[in-house]
Amino acid sequence: MSTRPRPVPPTALPTRLPGPERLELGTATASYQVEGASTADGRGPSIWDTFTARPGTIRDGSDGSVACDSYHRYTEDADLVADAGLDWYRFSVAWPRIVPEGRGRVEQRGLDYYDRLVDALLERGVKPTGTLYHWDLPQPLEDAGGWLERGTAEAFADYAEVVHARLGDRVGLWATHNEPWCAAYLGYAAGVHAPGRQEGGRAHRAAHHLMLGHALAAERLRAGEHPVDVGIVLNLAPIWAEDPERPEVQDVADGVDAIRNRVWLDPLVDGAYDAGLLRVAPELADAELVRPGDLERIQGSADWVGLNYYTPVRPDLPGVGKADHPEGGAYPGVAPFELVVREPVTDIGWEIDASGLDELIRTTAERTGLPVLVMENGAACADTVVVEGTVRDEDRIGYLRDHLAAAERARDAGADLRAYVVWTLLDNFEWAEGYTKTFGIVHIDPETQDRTPKASYHWLAETVRARA
Ligand code: NOJ
Repeated sequence: MSTRPRPVPPTALPTRLPGPERLELGTATASYQVEGASTADGRGPSIWDTFTARPGTIRDGSDGSVACDSYHRYTEDADLVADAGLDWYRFSVAWPRIVPEGRGRVEQRGLDYYDRLVDALLERGVKPTGTLYHWDLPQPLEDAGGWLERGTAEAFADYAEVVHARLGDRVGLWATHNEPWCAAYLGYAAGVHAPGRQEGGRAHRAAHHLMLGHALAAERLRAGEHPVDVGIVLNLAPIWAEDPERPEVQDVADGVDAIRNRVWLDPLVDGAYDAGLLRVAPELADAELVRPGDLERIQGSADWVGLNYYTPVRPDLPGVGKADHPEGGAYPGVAPFELVVREPVTDIGWEIDASGLDELIRTTAERTGLPVLVMENGAACADTVVVEGTVRDEDRIGYLRDHLAAAERARDAGADLRAYVVWTLLDNFEWAEGYTKTFGIVHIDPETQDRTPKASYHWLAETVRARA
């Protein structure tokens, strides 16, 4: 049954930050994970094209060159979002489609694609919200040093301005970055994400440049002709030291907290990297890196903050927990530690604990004083079999139900939470896991790209109806 709403009226455009009256619901994807068409219409190479071509980087040796083919099937995607009655679709823009060389020449055909996507959503009554950087850096910028270089932050602001000039009459809710922790530390320290570099403490340079890029882009968006609410989406985490009474354990937990949470929130809220943070990340004391005015620009540069939550983080001493987690090496400056993972877990091995979401929303709202949007939450489940036209994914339904309830609890307790967005619409390219881990509420046939809504999709649609 279709619950397709009416088109978003032109008077409601551009779409902006939702108000506090009601929790809005949506679903999300990201460019490299779903679009495919990696050489279409002048798109340049990104660091993920290069990284996936390197043997041994991706569990199943796959890449995003076809993915869900959303570049051609975006109207099917828009139908699915609309038919579920969701308020929002969160997509990301591929920088190498818009500025194939990373700076300079703008590719209009890339902008045309997002124009079509945005219009398809609006025609179906779905509000589009965009993310400017979900990890697909143009390769030429990486060749010039990537996020370790200040020039990348400046190029990012130029690109952001171009996108907003074209789409800003309809899209007024933009995230600059998605999970900059992954871009900086999985990309430049652990090396398990593109560009696959292991630079140790130099990865803190990437963190600073990502935040600077966020601030510079936010300034440009606000200076444009269209009104905008600009934020940043962080994968902050509740850090639960396994044995907080032991000072060595509390010490590693503080270090993990510094890199996972404080390196982003402190400049945003306080405009500072304090002594505690600098002990873990002494590179941030470098005056050539953090130039006069940088921290002042970053402070207060977000109108809202987005959270992606999947699992809590439980640090403990080596020999106690799980040493071979993919995040190993992603915390330069922190003494060796391991992660404890308690049952139950999802198919990707991440502990399930919805109370972490409740806690994270409340602490983030309090720390930032900003409206909070849950921009991703979801579960990888081993549910790839289509039987009689549907996929039974009861585990995912349980996960989503419990986490939505946890989000509601935080809201009822007074946290200014405005939206809850499910990761993800489609089974898609899960980075280093390739296509082996599926988070979608819609199954994708890897051969034909046919879309089959799973039981969780129908549950979500029903939840939307019941709430209305
Ligand atoms: C967060 C990332 O933003 C998204 O790209 C990824 O697929 C999900 N987490 C699941 O790992």
